[in-house]
Amino acid sequence: MTQATVRIIRQEHAALSAMLRSIVQLLEQHRRKGTLPDFAVLRAMLFYVDEFPEKRHHRKETELLFPRLRARTPISRDLLDKLDEDHARGERRIRDVEHALLAFEMMGESRREAFEQTVGEYVDFYLGHMALEEREILPLAERVLTEDDWRDLDEAFAQNRDPLTGHVADFEYNALFTRIVNVVPAPIGLGPAL
Ligand SMILES: [Fe+2]
Ligand SMILES: [Fe+2]
Repeated sequence: MTQATVRIIRQEHAALSAMLRSIVQLLEQHRRKGTLPDFAVLRAMLFYVDEFPEKRHHRKETELLFPRLRARTPISRDLLDKLDEDHARGERRIRDVEHALLAFEMMGESRREAFEQTVGEYVDFYLGHMALEEREILPLAERVLTEDDWRDLDEAFAQNRDPLTGHVADFEYNALFTRIVNVVPAPIGLGPAL
């Protein structure tokens, strides 16, 4: 049986991937049409990426899951260090993306390419990070963690469910999610993709 912790991590990754890919699609669509995006929509999407995964999802991995793994096995220590580093750097990187967005909004067309590039690099970084966790870390956790580990982790992880995955969530993230779903243009919409 899949552990709740593993299921939640995978669901949150899927939701976050959908959000990141939607941002890229939105930008491509506007580039093709030669139009400027709705900056309020982009701000909301990036704010979500900043808030939920950076402040909560990654924190749970770094503070709860990874220490358990380090305690149980010497395997993949370097990889865990690298992923922790990614978590620490992620916050800085999302600031860069948000700044590039502000520059695009303030300065217009001349900053479109720089913003698209910053977003593209961030999305690649993030998707690569999540793929490593899913390919290496989650299977390792399933092999080495004990019943007690899982009970503690499941309890902690269940407290912060991601509204994008359709589970009960903190009301503030629910409100943010609803706002984003309502403003993302229909062909790209987040809801049906999940
Ligand atoms: Fe992570
Ligand atoms: Fe993760």
